[in-house]
Amino acid sequence: MPLFWGDWTVRWALCSLWQRDQEDAGILSTLRRWLGTGKRWFNRRVEFKIGIMMQQPVVRDSSRSDDRCHFVRTQTHRAGLPFSLKEFEKRSQQGNFLYELFVDGNPVSYGWVAGPGAQVGILHELNMRVPEHALYIWDCATPEEHRGKGYFQTLLRSMMQSQGVETNVALVAVDSNNTASKAALKKVGFQPLFTYWSFRVFGRVVLSLALKDGRLTWAQPQFDQLQFS
Ligand SMILES: CC(C)(COP(=O)(O)OP(=O)(O)OC[C@H]1O[C@@H](n2cnc3c(N)ncnc32)[C@H](O)[C@@H]1OP(=O)(O)O)[C@@H](O)C(=O)NCCC(=O)NCCS
Repeated sequence: MPLFWGDWTVRWALCSLWQRDQEDAGILSTLRRWLGTGKRWFNRRVEFKIGIMMQQPVVRDSSRSDDRCHFVRTQTHRAGLPFSLKEFEKRSQQGNFLYELFVDGNPVSYGWVAGPGAQVGILHELNMRVPEHALYIWDCATPEEHRGKGYFQTLLRSMMQSQGVETNVALVAVDSNNTASKAALKKVGFQPLFTYWSFRVFGRVVLSLALKDGRLTWAQPQFDQLQFS
């Protein structure tokens, strides 16, 4: 009889310990979920971003050619493009051109080019009117299955080759965290012009600064002052 009671007491004690563990684990996972939601909410409302404005003189060189690669300026929308017809037409009307690289007939990389005079958004409220004699490269991508094969670099070179003689400089703004893009741009010869920061809280930009030649300034004037001959 004492053995029977002892047995049940041990079982009851183990059971309540297990129950308490389960409750603790439940409380912890709820707390973790709340913290995750809070963090996501905070990150959506408080945004700090760093970008680098890069430039590269346009050097014309027609020696590169690969029969499998085909570079085109896409003038009409088609199914499979990662933008709607409406978006394509809007961008085209605003002075942008879409360029694509095809390998063995398959699209492997694309990028948009804005010509002189086009107004482009850079980051948050920072914007730029593309200066005379320059082109601005933006919204480029290589589908995941084609990445790391040098297609973006080929696209960049081809985009620069395809410009008229009056275009002397190519510009691109890249997120400082975009390692792949920075590596490709550097290999093609792009050099940093200046770095810019923008801090946005609840949809309002509270500070945007630029660092150029060791001097800290407001960011927007750096974009406004860009001039090339
Ligand atoms: C950025 C992007 C367009 C590059 O396309 P891609 O065709 O793979 O680029 P490339 O192969 O020409 O060059 C990428 C270079 O970065 C390197 N690279 C890729 N990921 C890297 C990483 N995480 N760290 C360091 N280097 C990296 C590659 O090895 C390659 O260098 P290599 O020629 O010396 O090998 C592609 O990753 C992409 O579509 N990203 C999402 C969209 C985007 O960020 N667009 C911004 C463009 S401004």
